[in-house]
Amino acid sequence: MKADQQFLRDEFFKIYGDMATEPVLFYSPGRVNLIGEHTDYNGGYVFPCALDFGTTLLIRRAQRHEIRLNSINFPGEVVIPIVLNYLPVPKSWTNYPVGVINEFARKGIAVPGLELLFYGDIPNGAGLSSSASIEMVTAVAVNELTGAGLEMMEMVKMSQKAENGFAGMNCGIMDQFAVGFGKKDHAINLNCDTLEYRYAPLMLGNRRLIITNTNKRRGLTDSKYNERRSECERAVELISEHHPVRNLSQLTVSDLWMLDAYIADPVVRKRAKHVITENGRTLDAIKALEDNDIELLGKLMNESHDSLCTDYEVTGTELDTLVYEGRKLPGVVGTRMTGAGFGGCTVSIVENSRADEFIRKLGEIYTAGTGLTADFYLPGIGDGARKVESL
Ligand code: GLA
Repeated sequence: MKADQQFLRDEFFKIYGDMATEPVLFYSPGRVNLIGEHTDYNGGYVFPCALDFGTTLLIRRAQRHEIRLNSINFPGEVVIPIVLNYLPVPKSWTNYPVGVINEFARKGIAVPGLELLFYGDIPNGAGLSSSASIEMVTAVAVNELTGAGLEMMEMVKMSQKAENGFAGMNCGIMDQFAVGFGKKDHAINLNCDTLEYRYAPLMLGNRRLIITNTNKRRGLTDSKYNERRSECERAVELISEHHPVRNLSQLTVSDLWMLDAYIADPVVRKRAKHVITENGRTLDAIKALEDNDIELLGKLMNESHDSLCTDYEVTGTELDTLVYEGRKLPGVVGTRMTGAGFGGCTVSIVENSRADEFIRKLGEIYTAGTGLTADFYLPGIGDGARKVESL
């Protein structure tokens, strides 16, 4: 459901009363990554874009010295006193906004009493960065209300820290970055080592993006994710005994021999191989889009999934069914998992004229193969986190 401003305003006043003071409105998108998966925390390249669905926040200063958090999506109010050091609450959605408020507090920025109402239309746990979206909408709102004047990049880093510390997910910077820096109709080519970035117009001609949600509950994603991260760190340690490297992205495909030579553990070797080859594919994909070679972009997306399936082992039956069955359908230029994996979504480039058929046929095949029902989204590419006058 798209956010309806009047409805949200009514809900806000129902909860908080005092209709004399209008709340201020902020909006932050979700994201989809086109290619460059599990490279961000290895100092590599990513190529995400912000979506045209996301999180809306209505916020105003409160009289009382406390922070009141409500969400249309998650029933029940959470009220916390203003302190200098906030603590996470197990399994609560409020860890995302409170983690960000904690980062402001840690910088010595006095956060006043606040009343907040969130509404998100990003499916939760689907790998489309609903959490980064909540973090970033909180960051831009608190930045504005406190007059802190922080730059977007600073808020991206603070939101990443909030996710690491409060949600226990040792994520890289891609999600918060894409959500913060998104630009309508553009993908963002980000070097996660230097944080240099460039926008590339996402012109797909007679083709479009389709996102497919496996609707598989992700469960162990965070612990598996953190495990992959440690495996990559292990690879860096082992290679560094012979050839000093800061991260895996300092190596290219011409260095792949080092993996055989220096890493005895076949699992760690495969993980490193994925990261190194994925960086190469991502750079090639960025060039392919710039050259308007969408067929090549699609081919690289397919190869990316193969590598995530075989070498990085973060896919699973549901994602693989969507991808490998989807590839057999007419008009599919490329298709791969997007985000952390283990469930969540795929992103596909499909010819416009075949989109309906893709959705119908793949939906049927997926249900027959897995017993689950997939959801399909036809996203537009939107702007990043910001204050808005209206929705
Ligand atoms: C999650 C993380 C990101 C990134 C992706 C995988 O979305 O939050 O930082 O590592 O997984 O590419």
